[in-house]
Amino acid sequence: MTKYYIMAAKFGSKIGMIAATVGSAVGLGNIWRFPAETQANGGAAFLLVYIGCVLLLGIPVMLVEFSIGREGGTDAIGNYRRISPKSKWWLLGGMGIAASYMILTFYIVVAGWTLEYFVSALSGDLFTGIADGSSSFEGKMKDYVSSDWKPIIFTAIMIAANVAVLMMGVRKGIEKISNIMMPLLFLILVIFCVVALSLPGASDGLNFFLNPDFSKVNGSVVIDAMGQAFFSLSLGMGVLSTYAAYFPRDTRLGRTAATVSFLDMVVAFMMGLIIFPAVTSFGMQGESLEGATLVFVTLPEVFTRMPGTQLWAILFFMLLLLAALTSTISMSEVAIRFFQDRLKMSRRKAVLIVMLPLLLFGAINSLSSGLLADFKIFGLTIFDLLDTVATNIMLPLGALAMCLYAGWFAPKGLLARQLSNDARSQGVATRAVIFIIRWVSPIAIAAILIAQFK
Ligand code: PHE
Repeated sequence: MTKYYIMAAKFGSKIGMIAATVGSAVGLGNIWRFPAETQANGGAAFLLVYIGCVLLLGIPVMLVEFSIGREGGTDAIGNYRRISPKSKWWLLGGMGIAASYMILTFYIVVAGWTLEYFVSALSGDLFTGIADGSSSFEGKMKDYVSSDWKPIIFTAIMIAANVAVLMMGVRKGIEKISNIMMPLLFLILVIFCVVALSLPGASDGLNFFLNPDFSKVNGSVVIDAMGQAFFSLSLGMGVLSTYAAYFPRDTRLGRTAATVSFLDMVVAFMMGLIIFPAVTSFGMQGESLEGATLVFVTLPEVFTRMPGTQLWAILFFMLLLLAALTSTISMSEVAIRFFQDRLKMSRRKAVLIVMLPLLLFGAINSLSSGLLADFKIFGLTIFDLLDTVATNIMLPLGALAMCLYAGWFAPKGLLARQLSNDARSQGVATRAVIFIIRWVSPIAIAAILIAQFK
């Protein structure tokens, strides 16, 4: 509806819009979390359930977020205030801002570690003392991740990098950096794929990743796959509705959601093609791919067994860094857009007010991951616990509420209008998608959520 299109900030081109949205989606979730989840959940069967979750739940929820964002044309809270002024639905936007900021306070610390590893791969420090056994990757990880001050400094540098991009605004900052970084990221991935697949013994790894054993599918596999789908696609907390407010008016939402989800799946899939063959090729399939161990211990170990060790390490940590940066930018933008639009702040002020406290929260989280690394609740570190709670509970809840809102409570015709770009009548595809959003996705998400507590 035209009266809502009053926002100035828009992406300048279709490519830029896709690059920025894919930049948000593709992150540590694809490169690090996906292989770890796949290993923990038995391999190929998880991959299939994951693809099912993306198609049946991820894409519909993404379309909901796109529709709310483009209809509202403003921040995560403002969208609901504009579309449903006399309701309390804006609270859902508020929850999204809180959730994305909470995840950001952890994600930025992990992004700091990747920068630290990138720098130490560049300087060669990562590999000193490994050959003669005077140092180990486990030891280095303790040093890099748990020492008091070093990770905090790298976290601060990552925050500064975010600030630099975000200050430039939507078009000159977010869009431009994504246009450069995303193609680079895909290029690095392709190089790794070719190398990993030509390693001797790669086929055993491929077998684990691609040959499903359905006896391994159970309730917890489905829960993890759904959480992973929402996390990886940046769904359930208003990140993509914030970006959708910047979509040009004639953007076809269905096509965009399909493209973004497809590219996001391709990246995760390629990471599987890289990691499982590499790990089995060097006889390391027994090693845990869980959490930090995969990227900070197992992979560096793999690199030492390949010619050109340092080059591979540099390339890999650069890949992680690119992925992490474009994702933290999108998480930060949710709160920044809120301060800009709701509280009428200048871009500069909004960026600072969101990013400066992050220094403090980042430092606290960084310290706690070091000092409290041995402190466990339900057998998980605080870090892992928050990751699981956020991904397996908060994101699905947010997604469920958004489906219910868009499908049942929003003013009539919101989905039809947005999904068909204001066409008078809707085609079969649009009507099918609306049906899925109203019935299939919410029931499936609710069922999986409830099953979790059984
Ligand atoms: N999708 C990002 C990833 O895969 C993480 C993310 C989650 C980004 C939520 C924004 C919002 O790493």
